[in-house]
Amino acid sequence: MTNQFGGSWTDQKMAIVVAYAKAYLTIMKEQRWAKTIYFDGFAGSGSIKDNSSLRNNNCLLDSNAEMSTAEDIKKGTALRILDISEPKPFDLYYFVEKNESYQQQLLHQIGRRYVDRKCHVVKGDCNKKLNDLAGFLKQNNEFRALCFIDPYGMSVKWSSIEALRGLGVDLWILVPTGVSANRVLVNDGNIPDVWLNSLEIFLGLKRDDIKRKFYKEVIQHNLFGDDLTLVEKERDTVNKLGKLYAERLQTVFNFVSESFVLRNSMNSIMYHFMMGTNNPVALKIANDVIKPKYKL
Ligand SMILES: C[S@@+](CC[C@H](N)C(=O)[O-])C[C@H]1O[C@@H](n2cnc3c(N)ncnc32)[C@H](O)[C@@H]1O
Repeated sequence: MTNQFGGSWTDQKMAIVVAYAKAYLTIMKEQRWAKTIYFDGFAGSGSIKDNSSLRNNNCLLDSNAEMSTAEDIKKGTALRILDISEPKPFDLYYFVEKNESYQQQLLHQIGRRYVDRKCHVVKGDCNKKLNDLAGFLKQNNEFRALCFIDPYGMSVKWSSIEALRGLGVDLWILVPTGVSANRVLVNDGNIPDVWLNSLEIFLGLKRDDIKRKFYKEVIQHNLFGDDLTLVEKERDTVNKLGKLYAERLQTVFNFVSESFVLRNSMNSIMYHFMMGTNNPVALKIANDVIKPKYKL
């Protein structure tokens, strides 16, 4: 079975990462002292299924998956990155996948087609592996990492992103503003405790700060003067979440790119896709890559 996604935003996401990786490798080719790692924290099976019936919920498994035709199935980002040989391949590839079946499929596809690439395909949690990556980079100064973080929802802990502070990392991350975070911000502000916990872990902020950013108090005037104070959700919280995450990234990286907004076929915002880096040249490339010429 393949991973299943739908909608052209998936193509856009892959096109951006591949275009950036090529530009990144062009520059790194000149840095002869440096070794490059491609770190993919949510690697998938190596294939994705383009299924229009899943366009509003790109990561659900489809019970009809076995009926998919070859035309529905596309190469996932992992294989597209491995396909890059010009200007040069990465020196090392590190793919993390939590689902054992997907990890095995990716391993199988890589083993068959990319024998000359130095790959690790591990079953594990991206959060743990981001921390391991940080430890590795601290010990091995010659390495520079391009990270691609492509989660379903709010599964990346803020503490895992913070672990990358001060390191030679360019981090592309899909921030699940529309698909996940905004859904947790319920209209009346009565967010269940467990959801507030996940927002705190995801944003690295305290619940009161989060509430202050996304809710306001409004006074409802009653006929007899007994006014009522109500809590109301702010407007355009999806984009505000994207802006907030970019501000949070800016506390870890020197530079954060503009966001590329990924929308589904109903034109609803699903993710804000952005990059953090400590390198001003990388920032310029990232902002260039997300300009309309790369949009499919
Ligand atoms: C959006 S899909 C990845 C698609 C892939 N990046 C691509 O473009 O081809 C997310 C993948 O992450 C895996 N996953 C979910 N939670 C994870 C975690 N905490 N750590 C690592 N992988 C995880 C899922 O099994 C799924 O295959």
